[in-house]
Amino acid sequence: MAYDLTGKHVLITGASSGIGAALAEGFAKRGATVGLCARRADKLDDVLARCRVHAPDSQAWTVDLADLDGLSAFAQRASQDLGGIDVLVNNAGIPKRKKVFSLTPEIIEDVMRINYFSPVRLTLALLDEVIGRDGRLVYVSSVAARLSPPAESSYSASKAAISAWAECLQVDLRDTKVKIHVVYPGVIDTELFHLPDNDPLGNTGVEMLPVDAMVEPVLGMIERDELEVAVPEWFGDVFAGKYRDVAAFIGGTIEFARAQSS
Ligand SMILES: NC(=O)c1ccc[n+]([C@@H]2O[C@H](COP(=O)([O-])OP(=O)(O)OC[C@H]3O[C@@H](n4cnc5c(N)ncnc54)[C@H](OP(=O)(O)O)[C@@H]3O)[C@@H](O)[C@H]2O)c1
Repeated sequence: MAYDLTGKHVLITGASSGIGAALAEGFAKRGATVGLCARRADKLDDVLARCRVHAPDSQAWTVDLADLDGLSAFAQRASQDLGGIDVLVNNAGIPKRKKVFSLTPEIIEDVMRINYFSPVRLTLALLDEVIGRDGRLVYVSSVAARLSPPAESSYSASKAAISAWAECLQVDLRDTKVKIHVVYPGVIDTELFHLPDNDPLGNTGVEMLPVDAMVEPVLGMIERDELEVAVPEWFGDVFAGKYRDVAAFIGGTIEFARAQSS
C-alpha cells in the first residue's frame, strides 16, 4: 500500500449525503479521523454519528461553500479543530441539467461557484499544509467532464475545469510528495437527481449504482497512488474511445439525444 489512511485527518466537503457521506464512513472505517462539512446540520449529525463509531475524534461543521470569501477562514478552523489536514476531498457539487436555451449567466456562475471555485479556494487555503504533511488532494469530477452529455453544458464545463485544474496541479507539485486524485462517478443513486431546477434525468442507458459502489474504488485509488478512477471502471474505455474521434463521438451523442427526446 503506497498511502496508509490509518490515522490520517481527512476533510470531506459535501459529506451530509450521497457520495460524500459514504466516503466519510469509508475513511473512518479505515482508521482515518474525518472532518465533515455541508449546509444541513441534521444530516451531518447523522453521518458524524456513524463515523464516530470507527473514528471518535471526527468532527463536523456547517458551511455554505458558495460563500467563497469565507472559505479560507473555514479551512483554518477545520484544520485547527482536527489537528491538521492530510487529505482534502473536494466532493460537494450541484447538478445542472438544462439545455443551453434555458441557461442564464447567473445559473452558470452558481454552478461554477460550487463545482469549481469552492474546491479551488479550499485547495489554495490548505495547500501549504497538505504539502507539509505529504498529503493528498482529491477532486470528485464526473464522467460528464469527458463525455459531453445532453443538457449538461454548464455542469460538464465546471467538472472539466476541476479535472484540468487537478491534472495541472500534479505537474506543479512534482517536487513534493503530494498526490492528486480525480474521481469520475457515472450514475450513482443520490439526491443529486432529485434537486429542483433541473430537467428530468431521462433514460441514460447506464445502470444507476448505489453510493457504496464508490467507496472501495476511491479509497483504493488513494491507497495505490493512482491519479484517477471511474465508477464503473468501463467508463475509462468510453473516455479513450471519445478521444480517438471526438467528432464521431459527438455525432453519436446527438443521435442518442434525439432518440431520448422522441
Ligand atoms: N450522483 C452521481 O451520479 C454523480 C455523478 C457524477 C459526479 N457526481 C458528483 O459527486 C459529488 C457528490 O454528489 P452526490 O451525487 O453525492 O449528490 P448529493 O447527495 O446531492 O451530495 C451533494 C453534497 O454537496 C453538498 N453541497 C451542495 N451545495 C453546497 C453548498 N453550497 N455548501 C456546502 N455543501 C454543499 C450537499 O450538502 P448540503 O445540501 O447539506 O449543503 C451534499 O452533501 C458532486 O460533486 C457531484 O457533482 C455525482
